[in-house]
Amino acid sequence: MSAIILKNVDKSWGRFQALTQINFKCEQGQLLVLLGPSGCGKSTTLRLIAGLETPTSGRIEIGGKDVSYLPPVKRNISMVFQNYALFPHLNVAENILFGLKARKVSLPEQKKRLENAAGLLGLSDFLDRKPAQLSGGQRQRVALGRAIVAQVSVCLMDEPLSNLDAKLRQEMRQEIRFLQQRLKMTMIYVTHDQVEAMTIADKIILMKDGHIEQHGTPEALYNRPETAFAGSFIGNPPMNILTPEPVLMEMLSSRLPGGINPESCQIGIRPENIKISEDQGMEARVETVEYLGADTLIACRFGQQNITLTVKGKTGLTAGDPLKLRWEADHIHLFDASNGRRLENMERGNL
Ligand SMILES: Nc1ncnc2c1ncn2[C@@H]1O[C@H](COP(=O)(O)OP(=O)(O)OP(=O)(O)O)[C@@H](O)[C@H]1O
Ligand SMILES: [Mg+2]
Repeated sequence: MSAIILKNVDKSWGRFQALTQINFKCEQGQLLVLLGPSGCGKSTTLRLIAGLETPTSGRIEIGGKDVSYLPPVKRNISMVFQNYALFPHLNVAENILFGLKARKVSLPEQKKRLENAAGLLGLSDFLDRKPAQLSGGQRQRVALGRAIVAQVSVCLMDEPLSNLDAKLRQEMRQEIRFLQQRLKMTMIYVTHDQVEAMTIADKIILMKDGHIEQHGTPEALYNRPETAFAGSFIGNPPMNILTPEPVLMEMLSSRLPGGINPESCQIGIRPENIKISEDQGMEARVETVEYLGADTLIACRFGQQNITLTVKGKTGLTAGDPLKLRWEADHIHLFDASNGRRLENMERGNL
């Protein structure tokens, strides 16, 4: 049974339509990430599932039950917000147990759940401290503790790590994934950070302007983006999206599936799939070189457009150097320039 289902969900405020035809399922025990740029409707979708907003039309099910118009307390979910929503005058233990007190859970049961959650989260030595006496990561753990002691199987998280520095974010996201798997939680996790999404998700829902652009596993989004937007949103540095200028058109025309005019295509190629060639290849000129340690990022001018490639380690290239580029046809993603949608794969071979 799917833990959470959204069917044809729309949400408008006045004449502004924030969500259009949102359809997805999140299976029991799955970690599903809602990903997309600022304003695309991620938080609105999560708030609809939590019951903090009501849909304009469509239906939301949790555990097989229609909850579209039920208040949050009747939905049996926990939610972790970006700002943690901790009470500054309560200590860690009181903050963690706050929801249980409100739900009149017995004191011995509260104690048991608190000990268990504090042990899992490494907070046992901090139970008497106030939030102001904690680091950002510890505060985040307190907020997670609340979700754990609630012992509900569905947990919703809205950008829970955005207040933390990069290293702590990485640690915390591994911790969240570990806990989610260990406690077999069904989790919907909102982020605008594609690296976060790729590393923790079972499934990603990529959103744009209030609609779902693509729904799939991290591998599917990376290997087979359904739109040019999905191609350029997933991956770092982003996929190059090229317009077919003459040199590319010539190569494309013999390999395109029948009936497709090369002029109406966009060509997507990931920076890590572009090779520097000693002999044959397309001529480009280096514009900038950024050494990142394991890789070097090379931004080039290629005809009338920019193209970025990554190479392993360090290179001797500098701005102004000419170079030849090539890539395998397998690595090309073709999109329809008029609507950004993916076109069929081309014939194999080298380009
Ligand atoms: N209560 C509201 N009234 C009117 N418009 C709203 C309301 N809440 C959100 N919106 C609008 O709905 C759109 C989606 O907002 P939402 O908060 O879901 O975006 P988001 O994807 O979470 O963005 P971010 O990454 O910036 O948090 C935005 O254009 C926002 O301005
Ligand atoms: Mg948001």
